[in-house]
Amino acid sequence: MQRFDVIILGAGAAGMFCAIEAGRRGRKVALIDHARAPGEKIRISGGGRCNFTNLHIGPEKFLSQNQRFALSALRRYTQQDFIERVRRAGIAFHEKTLGQLFCDGSAREIIAMLTNDMRDAGVRLLLGTQVSGVAHGNGFTVQTSAGVFQAPNLVVATGGKSIPKMGATGFGYQLAAQFGQPVVETRPALVPLTFAVEQLEELKPLAGIAVQAEVRCGKAQFREGMLFTHRGLSGPSILQISSYWREGQGIVVDLMPGKDLLPLLEGEKRRNGRQAVHTALATHLPEKLARQIVARVRVQGNLADQSKAALNRVRDAVKNWQLLPVGSEGYRTAEVTLGGVDTDALDARTMQARTMPGLFFIGEVVDVTGWLGGYNFQWAWSSGWVAGQAV
Ligand code: FDA
Repeated sequence: MQRFDVIILGAGAAGMFCAIEAGRRGRKVALIDHARAPGEKIRISGGGRCNFTNLHIGPEKFLSQNQRFALSALRRYTQQDFIERVRRAGIAFHEKTLGQLFCDGSAREIIAMLTNDMRDAGVRLLLGTQVSGVAHGNGFTVQTSAGVFQAPNLVVATGGKSIPKMGATGFGYQLAAQFGQPVVETRPALVPLTFAVEQLEELKPLAGIAVQAEVRCGKAQFREGMLFTHRGLSGPSILQISSYWREGQGIVVDLMPGKDLLPLLEGEKRRNGRQAVHTALATHLPEKLARQIVARVRVQGNLADQSKAALNRVRDAVKNWQLLPVGSEGYRTAEVTLGGVDTDALDARTMQARTMPGLFFIGEVVDVTGWLGGYNFQWAWSSGWVAGQAV
């Protein structure tokens, strides 16, 4: 039996951050993960450059049954705190867009910073270690392939179900259920959307084309890049809207956000009426897309031949494109998992379960899901940090 003050399950962003803080406070910490390396999702994040936080953190950038739950932790350990840490570690970074901060070099620099800090804080890191069971009674007892561990504090930082190939298991939800903690239903989020055959046939030939688009679903809307793929639609604006989309709902795409197309087409008609409609449209959109839109609304001939009604049909097809997703690519490619351990069951200051002292949930396993853009890592750092002060 190996005794510790704190056992943390999951050496991802949240688990490592919690381990560092607890270790710095003099706690004897064991951090256990079944993966061979820590922070695998950090390594692949942000296209290998890790979008490690965002300058514009606020409750409206998070989805949860209780949107304000995350605020306490996000205020106690802020994006500026993490930025300062990255600076001190000598990691160069830049703002890409919309406040998103990325490493100039590699995401591995963030992992190295965390593993160095863990070593300095005396954290015992056990990788490639299978957890076969957790019991409660006189503290927590964790059965693993590396032996039995016991501690008065157990922190569950096993993440969500996204990308099983990378070690995601949903184990944290099972543990929550075992200990009587409520779990909000989970679903894949920040994920490409898929379409039924008829709409897919229109999208497939455009695979590889990227445009700026404003995508709306209900009250949510995002103006970012959109990518046509062989399976449907992807790119930041689609990933963002996927967190809000539900089965049966349509989405509306504006392919020329911030611009009114009709006066542009009418102006062109006056200036050069002999050009084809798709040629005029192709000054604003990729040509292949422009041709397809014009064909879809059955507008033929030159600009000069078109009635106002015909030009309005083109405008609507560009500015008000109605699509009906039938699903998503699922956990296989989802960046995060929506839902998770119900925040009502947790103390927002510490992440401790209200009904079971010593049990903590942090990071993605909790029902707090950020937008695309560094918000999810900031939640991992902030929730990990507050738990690290409390264990
Ligand atoms: P995380 O999933 O990171 O860690 C959980 C750990 O628990 C893993 O190491 C896993 O092996 C371990 N584990 C799971 N089950 C276990 C079991 N049964 N036994 C033992 N160990 C177990 N976010 C962001 O803010 N900026 C970005 O740039 C990106 N980019 C990005 C790209 C891609 C491709 C993905 C999939 C995700 C992102 N994200 C992101 C989201 C971000 O990666 C995610 O929100 C955090 O990694 C969550 O951190 P956690 O520590 O909570 O879980």
